[in-house]
Amino acid sequence: MANEKKYILAIESSCDDTSAAVLCNNKVLSNIVASQKVHQEYGGVVPELASRAHQQNIVPVVHQALTIANIDKKQLAAIAFTRGPGLMGSLLVGTSFAKSLALGLDIPLIEVNHMQAHILAHFIDEGRSMPRFPFLAMTISGGHTQIVLVKNYFDLEVLGETLDDAVGEAFDKSAKLLGLPYPGGPLVDKYAQQGNEKAFPFPKPKVDGLNFSFSGLKTSILYFLQKETKKNGAFVDENIADICASIQYTILEILMDKLKMAVDQTGIKQIAIGGGVAANSGIRQRLKDAEANLGLKTFIPKFEYCTDNAAMIGIVGYLKYLEGDFSAQNIAAKARYAMSGTNP
Ligand code: KG4
Ligand code: ZN
Repeated sequence: MANEKKYILAIESSCDDTSAAVLCNNKVLSNIVASQKVHQEYGGVVPELASRAHQQNIVPVVHQALTIANIDKKQLAAIAFTRGPGLMGSLLVGTSFAKSLALGLDIPLIEVNHMQAHILAHFIDEGRSMPRFPFLAMTISGGHTQIVLVKNYFDLEVLGETLDDAVGEAFDKSAKLLGLPYPGGPLVDKYAQQGNEKAFPFPKPKVDGLNFSFSGLKTSILYFLQKETKKNGAFVDENIADICASIQYTILEILMDKLKMAVDQTGIKQIAIGGGVAANSGIRQRLKDAEANLGLKTFIPKFEYCTDNAAMIGIVGYLKYLEGDFSAQNIAAKARYAMSGTNP
């Protein structure tokens, strides 16, 4: 069956991106993402507005994915969709749409865990080398921060995750304190490149094991800025590059400390990175340094497969299709959906 051409339509709607993709086996024919600009003015994702925008976007996005792939829906072998984790109202739009279309076309329905998809995005065939089992995955985005031991496609063990904010949130919330627009992560990165990362030391949290915490950093930045602007009203404007470099340095130290700890604990040196924060120039440099100094081998997929997208849902859909792992029509979305263990 693996050599036959199987076309999978995949749908992702877990947060604020409505996305549809068509895959032919493990290759992506189309991957359409409609990002929702409506959240920008609120400085974060507003769940009610996200659900409404998904309702508006889902039909045109799916239509465009099929058109660009040049595939008629009658050629589809299965529909894959994000079951969770994510915002319930957002998940319901994609889940209900996927169910209806699968029922109408009388083809299998395949549920996908969004976090597993961020990791298995590395197995989309785009001519790059892929990690070999077992490997460590670090998923870093606005919604997630996890280190996962990946034993095979379907056996994944979360070794550590954030206890509060995700790493992208740490970037975005810090940026907000500096008066930068949402999402501020890319701007912090941009300013950081011109700054001195040791200019303003911020404390690193003390968290046991491989878990993370970023909420304390935000508080210490807030107090620091309050103190400095009291002395000099133009402090932020005059020191923006050094402040951003110092914030980014602290965040990267936290990430790299835990990553090195995971490598030491498992003895595994292959690291697969995913999530929007993988775009950060500092983390890319740190990983390059770790390759040279610690003998690590790191993998970062094409950026469009790092951020939320349906192609990553499609690759899991394809791998599950090969296993005959289909979902029943009464399946329900799950806002909290652990990657391993039992999920009835
Ligand atoms: O994966 P993603 O597009 O969406 C989800 O959160 O699911 O990740 C977006 C996050 C935002 O927090 C954004 O600020 C952050 O990734 N980000 C960056 C950079 N580019 C995107 N953070 C730091 N440096 C960057 N260059
Ligand atoms: Zn995500």
